[in-house]
Amino acid sequence: MCSQFQSETDTEIFAHLIQNALDKATVNSECDFIAVVQEALLPIEGNYALGILNVQYPDQLLFIRQGSPLIIGLGDDACFAASDIPAILSYTRRMLVLEDGDIAQLTRKGVLVYNSNGDEVQRPISTISWDPIRAEKGGYPHFMLKEIHEQPRAISDTLAGRLSSEQGRVYFETAFVPDDIILNIDRVLIIACGTSFHAGLTSCYDYERILGIPTSAEFASEFRYRNPILNDKTLVIAISQSGETADTLAAVDLAKQKGATVLSVCNMIESTIVRASDYVIYTHAGPEISVASTKAFVTQLVSLQLILLYIGKNRGILRKKELQTLTQDLLHLPTVASNLLSSEQQIQHIARRYAYAQNMLYLGRDIHYPLAMEGALKLKEISYIHAEAYPAGEMKHGPIALIDKDVPVFFIIHASSVREKVIANMEEIKARDGKIIALTLPQDEEVKRVADHVIEVPSISPHVDSILLSIPLQLFAYYVAVHRGTDVDQPRNLAKSVTVE
Ligand code: F6R
Repeated sequence: MCSQFQSETDTEIFAHLIQNALDKATVNSECDFIAVVQEALLPIEGNYALGILNVQYPDQLLFIRQGSPLIIGLGDDACFAASDIPAILSYTRRMLVLEDGDIAQLTRKGVLVYNSNGDEVQRPISTISWDPIRAEKGGYPHFMLKEIHEQPRAISDTLAGRLSSEQGRVYFETAFVPDDIILNIDRVLIIACGTSFHAGLTSCYDYERILGIPTSAEFASEFRYRNPILNDKTLVIAISQSGETADTLAAVDLAKQKGATVLSVCNMIESTIVRASDYVIYTHAGPEISVASTKAFVTQLVSLQLILLYIGKNRGILRKKELQTLTQDLLHLPTVASNLLSSEQQIQHIARRYAYAQNMLYLGRDIHYPLAMEGALKLKEISYIHAEAYPAGEMKHGPIALIDKDVPVFFIIHASSVREKVIANMEEIKARDGKIIALTLPQDEEVKRVADHVIEVPSISPHVDSILLSIPLQLFAYYVAVHRGTDVDQPRNLAKSVTVE
């Protein structure tokens, strides 16, 4: 007999299903209870992660996952369950990641894990090296500001032990894509969402320019709904801070079905996307708590550069001298990024001036266009100002109609062959009374003449400058949001891990 119930909350369905199954079954032991729970959840389609407590067995908690993340922390005299590592990092660094269909039984004695067949299994225990203090604010008013300031260290950590500047070589601590695949690929396809997508799009320019391999970036949320053409000569790079983004995960699965090799760039050890991929490069950003991604973004850019160098060397595209120079450029980043953070006060001042704008445009050409997209995303998500990014050359095809004295325009005009053309675009804005903030090279007198405000960013080399240019964009968005009094770390309607489609 099938009992009926009413509910307006989808999670309540689980409790009813389990209760129905318990009413029908003979439950004599804790093991029987686990089996009944597994059986009860069989008809459920979709993703979930559940914690289950039954009054008849008050000494145990069950945790079960399907598709959604769930980790178990192992303390000295306590166990923990959470959807991500930072949540329990101040209690323990020993973590166990459940597989889909696993059920974990937490009691005073410890943790037992059963697979979907009900067999007891051992899952590997990872020790997280992140310092729990790094998951706290450490004197900063917001996690976002702290994480912006942590970027020089995050870049160093992502490079640490991976580069030899004398040899011009890159080493990865995890198994990397083997040479026969690297030599065989004729295309790189980057899939990701949000800020991670912007990191991918930024890297496309260098992959094509330096490696000469056709490279494109796609929103994972779109990729899965068409019939993408890929094969075993496609290297798919899936980028995700959390490793749990549902659309990116689905895109990884689709790419694998189509025969592509999938390499993930991820910040979360043993996350679902990592486990679904063939290979992984970890970004060592450390825990990122603020919903707006900052240090994860720059470490994604750094990791994509490391992959570029590795492919360039192993395909024989980059010679030793070039590799040495590119490697040196990366190694300079932490120091230059640190110096750049000292221009914070000036950015704070400009941000205050434009904090009450209703709309803003971000413009750039070439590799600076995806950065403009990232700048606009940062601003809109934490300040709620409507901000749009356009390729500067597209202005005259429509958006220039928006320009007047109340629409500030943020230009990214840095070391690039299209600098002159961007200056012409700035003049067009100026002629329509638009206010211009320019992110530019030090002592660029021509830009200074046209722009209302200039934020100077030194250049190391065009292939790593994007990493530096990200920092003022983040600081500007942060200080605008602070002036507007929004909830910077937890903006409305947003979640840190987007585990639903
Ligand atoms: C924006 C932001 C989001 C994420 C996106 C993908 O600051 O954080 O746009 O980048 O939700 O998340 P991950 O990288 O975890 O797949």
